[in-house]
Amino acid sequence: MFIHKTDNSQLISEFAQDVREGLMSSKKKLKPIYLYDQIGSLLFEKICLQKEYYLTRTERTILENFSPDIVSMQNDTHISILELGSGSSDKTRILLECFLSKQKPLYYFPIDVSHSILYETIHKLSTDLSDLYIKGIASNYLEGIVKVRDFINSNQNLPNKKLILFLGSSVGNFEPNEVIDFLRIIKTIMDKQDMLLIGFDLQKSVKTIEAAYNDRAGITAKFNLNLLNRINRELGGEFNVGGFEHLAFYNENKARAEMHLLSKFDQQVKIRSISETFFFKKNETIHTENSYKYTLRQISALAEESGFKVKNNFTDKKKWYDLALFSPI
Ligand code: AVJ
Repeated sequence: MFIHKTDNSQLISEFAQDVREGLMSSKKKLKPIYLYDQIGSLLFEKICLQKEYYLTRTERTILENFSPDIVSMQNDTHISILELGSGSSDKTRILLECFLSKQKPLYYFPIDVSHSILYETIHKLSTDLSDLYIKGIASNYLEGIVKVRDFINSNQNLPNKKLILFLGSSVGNFEPNEVIDFLRIIKTIMDKQDMLLIGFDLQKSVKTIEAAYNDRAGITAKFNLNLLNRINRELGGEFNVGGFEHLAFYNENKARAEMHLLSKFDQQVKIRSISETFFFKKNETIHTENSYKYTLRQISALAEESGFKVKNNFTDKKKWYDLALFSPI
């Protein structure tokens, strides 16, 4: 096993710059990617176990039901698997095992921003699945994609057919216009026979969605508030985390779940490493995440606009979630 790691000092200054920009804008916001430091990634794993958070278990059920179909749709040719935002690779394992029953060895390239989670995941997977060859890449999606492509191209003994996984409804974090650009970039590293499997959360009742982002145990709240702790830890922030609260709701007009951090009173917060003080009014929020919810119709429109066609939609009985298999046109 081996890991490619992006230079850490560069990541921190990018974080500092993004925090400065986000908190200076008139509607304060922070990018959701920063929710996933080591603590945040562990909290996210815990969110996935909450009974209100239907996304993970629904996606798992779909993978359990349809992995053999996904594997057989690859026409028996050897493939490499590349995963964007692999996290614990917990659900991916179902698919990996299914592939391994047909082809050995199998090459797996997990890409994740959290180095520690990636390291742990690789360790576990390579212990359990002996015919799996893993090269982890600790970076953001786009850098990771380019690195994997270069690696595959420079190693002629690797199968060059790829299945790219983008699971967990992470695609929901993109703004609708950004998704198209993102998919187009992914397409540039895909050959004709490659496929892309994307997990989309589907539109459903407001009540169900809002419960998923406001679990009773308060794990999602901790996950959201950890972003302030992270700024304190990494950027010398002086946030009184108790002065903010977790706010999550479904914005029906925009078909997205929104997460915010709401200031409980007027306050000012200094962030030492960027030499800046920010003012928060009572009830003013920092917008930390959008999670867009899709319809099957929107998914095929999205595929079409970004140069793909939908080969298949794998959904659950309640049609709460969709695993869409795209192939380039
Ligand atoms: C990992 C982006 C799919 O939006 O549901 C979970 C992150 N945020 N609870 C989601 C998240 C709050 C999650 N994604």
